[in-house]
Amino acid sequence: MQSGRSAYYDAEAARYDASRGGSERADDAARAVRRLVPGPGVLLDVGGGTGIVSAALAAQGFDVLVTDLSTGMLALARDRLPGRAMAALADRLPVRPGSVDVVTAVWLLHLLAPAEADGVLAEAARVLRPGGHLVTTVDKRQAHGQRGAVADDRARVTEVAARLGLVPAGETTFTGASAWGSATDADPVFPLAAFRSGR
Ligand SMILES: C[S@@+](CC[C@H](N)C(=O)[O-])C[C@H]1O[C@@H](n2cnc3c(N)ncnc32)[C@H](O)[C@@H]1O
Repeated sequence: MQSGRSAYYDAEAARYDASRGGSERADDAARAVRRLVPGPGVLLDVGGGTGIVSAALAAQGFDVLVTDLSTGMLALARDRLPGRAMAALADRLPVRPGSVDVVTAVWLLHLLAPAEADGVLAEAARVLRPGGHLVTTVDKRQAHGQRGAVADDRARVTEVAARLGLVPAGETTFTGASAWGSATDADPVFPLAAFRSGR
């Protein structure tokens, strides 16, 4: 499953940015993340792909690290953020416990099986410092006018996060017109939810 997903994104990498809203979507997403957290700090962008959002987050003042499983996507992230992009599964982050101010997961959880998504949330809880924030997209497919995925269901994510000591800390949205094939809404609005580490 994971190798299949990696192969898909390896093949998709060259056209990914332009077909997913380009820098307008990335800049809007980065501004949305910035609104949800108290201040810039060390930010780990999990499943950061080509780094288009990660670079926009760096432009917002965050000290950004990017992880992804696709070597094709990561090659573009390495061009954008030299020395800051690492190959890693989202539920096995190469980062010390309590060492990160913000974890972002933009357009990631909806791709995963629920158990895998729960592993990502647990990893976020592990690497966040006390008072740090997880910021993740939720209900992503609904924004495209499609049936929702289980793994990024807002209520489910909130419940799993609570069990991990991550308390709701605000919501906002970002936009990003997308020419990508399965998008049925020409002007989607993507919900973004924040959770603060109470540990
Ligand atoms: C839809 S893209 C989003 C990329 C980026 N966050 C953005 O908003 O442009 C999903 C990314 O998640 C990565 N991914 C999927 N499953 C993953 C996993 N289990 N661990 C790490 N990365 C994963 C894919 O390789 C892909 O780059």
